[in-house]
Amino acid sequence: MPLPRAVLVCPPDCFDVVDVKNPFMEGQQGHVDYRLAKRQWHEVMRAFEQAGVEVRELPPAPGCEDMVFCANPVFAGLDGDGQRVCVLSHMRFSSRQPEVAAHARWYRENGYHVVEIAGPGLFEGSGDALWHPGRRLIWGGYGQRTSKEVYAKISRVFDAPVIPLELKTELFYHLDTCFCPVDERTALVYPPALTGEGLELLRQAFPSVIEVDDDEATHAMACNAAAFLGKYVVIPKGAPKATARLRELGFQVVEVDTSEFLKSGGSVFCMKMYLF
Ligand code: ARG
Repeated sequence: MPLPRAVLVCPPDCFDVVDVKNPFMEGQQGHVDYRLAKRQWHEVMRAFEQAGVEVRELPPAPGCEDMVFCANPVFAGLDGDGQRVCVLSHMRFSSRQPEVAAHARWYRENGYHVVEIAGPGLFEGSGDALWHPGRRLIWGGYGQRTSKEVYAKISRVFDAPVIPLELKTELFYHLDTCFCPVDERTALVYPPALTGEGLELLRQAFPSVIEVDDDEATHAMACNAAAFLGKYVVIPKGAPKATARLRELGFQVVEVDTSEFLKSGGSVFCMKMYLF
């Protein structure tokens, strides 16, 4: 697999916390500072541009308060023939389902083969399904927002093996909250969110696992970082240990403050979809 050279993002025009879809959102209704959220979003976009990827924008759909989290309504990549494919999510919460149609339209118009997966299973796109950088291999989180059984279909559609990883805790509800593949050899991982078996599989595949501690994983959502071109990492601010470790390993790390988006349970990684 090539590394992604572009991302799809959506401005936070309608961003808000109006209900509780994950434990991070508890007590946050009505507490979003909208102006600050916009400023922080632009700062994240600047960091993506600095990392050398093209930033493409999807216009927000009215009433979709979570649409800034572009990682969730679909999962995009290349199939075995190198064709662009996008699988549509079956989102757990009905309030997020309208986002999927808006994304489907964008991907269709931009040359992707858009696939719907039939059946009752849940799937939340690249919140749970993550490409191993540079390999035709997908890591598949399940347990809260995605059902394990959908990965057989995902594997067929992309013609790539999927390694399922069970998410053990309610707090780390998407795989991208506790695991970030940084490059082919390196990953950020918050071990308590995964099973012993899952951790073992990750350690076999990534020779360099950076363990993120409780405080940085929970309060900064340090694992919700985005890596680009095997060299750059955009990481939520407030994770000095993970940041220092990445720098020691030679990565160029940009820290961004995403306090307003953390109130909704999301940060840098889920504010974009990697495009191939
Ligand atoms: N409020 C959103 C939800 O609970 C946040 C999604 C964040 N996305 C992510 N991939 N972690 O659905």
